[in-house]
Amino acid sequence: MSLRVVQWTTGNVGRRALRAIVAHPGLELVGLYAWSPDKVGQDAGTLAGIEPLGVAATNDVEALLALEPDCISYNPLWPDVDLVCRFLEAGIDVSTTAAFITGHGLGAGSRARIEAACTKGGSSIFGSGMNPGFANLLGLVSAGICDRIDRITVTESVDATGYASAETQQSVGFGHPITHPGLHDMVERGTAVFQDGVYLMADALAIELSDVRCETAFATATQDHDLGFMRIDEGCVAGVEASWHGLVGERSVIELKVRWKMGQHMEPDWPLEHGYLVRVEGQPEIRTKLEIRPPKGFQGRSFEDFMQLGMIITAMPAVNAIPHLHRAAPGIRTYTDLPLVTGAGLCSAGR
Ligand SMILES: NC(=O)c1ccc[n+]([C@@H]2O[C@H](COP(=O)([O-])OP(=O)(O)OC[C@H]3O[C@@H](n4cnc5c(N)ncnc54)[C@H](OP(=O)(O)O)[C@@H]3O)[C@@H](O)[C@H]2O)c1
Repeated sequence: MSLRVVQWTTGNVGRRALRAIVAHPGLELVGLYAWSPDKVGQDAGTLAGIEPLGVAATNDVEALLALEPDCISYNPLWPDVDLVCRFLEAGIDVSTTAAFITGHGLGAGSRARIEAACTKGGSSIFGSGMNPGFANLLGLVSAGICDRIDRITVTESVDATGYASAETQQSVGFGHPITHPGLHDMVERGTAVFQDGVYLMADALAIELSDVRCETAFATATQDHDLGFMRIDEGCVAGVEASWHGLVGERSVIELKVRWKMGQHMEPDWPLEHGYLVRVEGQPEIRTKLEIRPPKGFQGRSFEDFMQLGMIITAMPAVNAIPHLHRAAPGIRTYTDLPLVTGAGLCSAGR
């Protein structure tokens, strides 16, 4: 029996999640929510760039709940805690990439409401993505061969120019004047889900944190950039660094760092690693690098095409967890609760 899944939105990540659900041998797409009025009534397959599927997008939340899906694959721009609680109270699991790993970044009140909704509905919620999400798992796996762990750093160091989500980019500082007095607070709010990643890793390593803190740094555009989906003018933010530190006393033991650049001309012109780096300080010292490369025969020509790979690696950790989530105990579930989340059923041989 396949699990019945409703896809929530078809943005950058949602389109790839939808395609993955349709291709997954253990999942069945039974409904699609559309936030944009012009998507309502359109076929799910058409919206995801594949063949028509006979499932029409709707903005009728009641009708989607009435389908009694096993899970909602939730990829909206921002999470709506009221709505998520409704799903969970109705006994529907939620697998999401929308600013959720442990729920700490949403605030204690929202997190408690989500826990209570899970208990009431006997349902569970899991949040992942590439980073935070899979990158935290990579850090934990890397540290699993050490006999002493002093500190783990997980760094995302990428050119984000092709990530065409203007609201997301602006919410983490991009495009605002470098003199904007609220930049640090904006980035702290916009990357708050990384604090979830810190808590997840601390929990997995049995570390009692005394505090979690965010540090930021910025690079300034030295020319105007028109990126199509947004502009970054000279004198505005074209590079953002955010470091979330998990502290024991004043010692940083977990650091989740992002270095994002958009456009070609900025000062300082930070070097990029073009991937995800784990550094474990301890015994031994570990360095793990995850690079994302196009597959053989990749037809994409543009940077935007390449960014599709970034959307796949964001969508898949949440989609792949859906079967495990269905069997999990009610509550907020993380990588510490679920069996190993793999691409089971996705091997191309014999399909
Ligand atoms: N952990 C990770 O690695 C990671 C990486 C990237 C993204 N994310 C998260 O994944 C989620 C989806 O990202 P994305 O790039 O797919 O986002 P997106 O394409 O910018 O937006 C997703 C969808 O949200 C709806 N939407 C657009 N504007 C909205 C607004 N003003 N208010 C409410 N809904 C709106 C639209 O739904 P319709 O399609 O129905 O019109 C849109 O397609 C976000 O929460 C993002 O932060 C996580």
